[in-house]
Amino acid sequence: MTRRAVVIGTGHYLPQRVVENAEFARTLDTSDEWIESRSGIKRRHFAAEGEYTSDLAIAAARDALADAGITASDIDAVVVATSTPDMTFPAVATQVQDGLGMTGGFAFDVQAVCAGFVFALANANGMIVSGQARRVLVIGAETFSRIMDWTDRATCVLFGDGAGAVVLEARDGAGTSDDRGILASDLNSDGRYRDLLYVDGGVSTSGTAGHLRMQGREVFRHAVEKLAATATTALDRAGLGAADVDWVVPHQANLRIIRGTAQKLGVSMDRVVVTVQDHGNTSAASIPLALSVAAREGRFAPGDLVLCEAIGGGLSWGAVVLRW
Ligand code: ACO
Repeated sequence: MTRRAVVIGTGHYLPQRVVENAEFARTLDTSDEWIESRSGIKRRHFAAEGEYTSDLAIAAARDALADAGITASDIDAVVVATSTPDMTFPAVATQVQDGLGMTGGFAFDVQAVCAGFVFALANANGMIVSGQARRVLVIGAETFSRIMDWTDRATCVLFGDGAGAVVLEARDGAGTSDDRGILASDLNSDGRYRDLLYVDGGVSTSGTAGHLRMQGREVFRHAVEKLAATATTALDRAGLGAADVDWVVPHQANLRIIRGTAQKLGVSMDRVVVTVQDHGNTSAASIPLALSVAAREGRFAPGDLVLCEAIGGGLSWGAVVLRW
């Protein structure tokens, strides 16, 4: 018997306000055509004033718990992947814990920017496999609209707010790649590239939240190659290959990166979940959002092999292979 972390529920939440590309053209030298042709993005959601990352995370968590048919008291641990916490501390995960009415278990945040959900999922899997937790709520939640420089057309048109969540539960498997649950993962970081994508403020430096800065073309240059490599490594660790993949659920940063990576892996686009047109880049929230939206559409059948891959600031990148 091999213990596996199986997805038993998914959920998501998107703030009410939808901002179409054309809205940016009113204040910036940009156009709907430029944004969509360069990124695939048509619209994104922005959180309302007074609506925080924890609010988004709690809503997504409630949705995922309902989908799993369990209550918060059944959860042992809450992990939130975010780079836009409500406050410097405590962790958003503790606010989620309290918001859900949990008084037991433990809760912490993971910060690996756009790769955060993949890092959180791999760590939650480790806690389940080691017996530290039986059920873990893994959430990606972001309010990137709060760290945008609204005068920088090269970044502010690309990002959005939202949250997605999955419930993982320990189940027994046979120890083969036919088992349901997380089969393998691969995580990487290379801090030499931290200047390609960063926020120009922080607690210990400026004492402010700062604004996102990105050398988009350089990030792009690293993305396809690193995403294909990490996906291949994770699949290899599971004893599988790209031909076995039923669904790729990639980080939703840019449609051209998503297409380029699929092509490099040899996976056709009809097996790739794409939500970037409606959500923009929601950083750590993008994969759980896409998972939840696709699950609600009934796209995943039990036993399907799902590959999640992401890259973000750090640079940090990774992949998780799981059977639905
Ligand atoms: N509207 C109109 N023109 C624009 C805009 C805009 N919104 N933004 C930039 N431009 C201009 C630039 O100024 C540049 O003009 P110039 O040639 O006169 O200098 C021109 O468009 C081309 O700019 P590039 O940056 O070369 O455009 P590119 O085709 O590379 O697309 C983009 C830019 C969309 C940012 C792309 O490089 C990209 O997606 N990069 C990856 C970003 C990413 O994946 N991030 C993921 C991680 S996010 C995270 O971790 C938080």
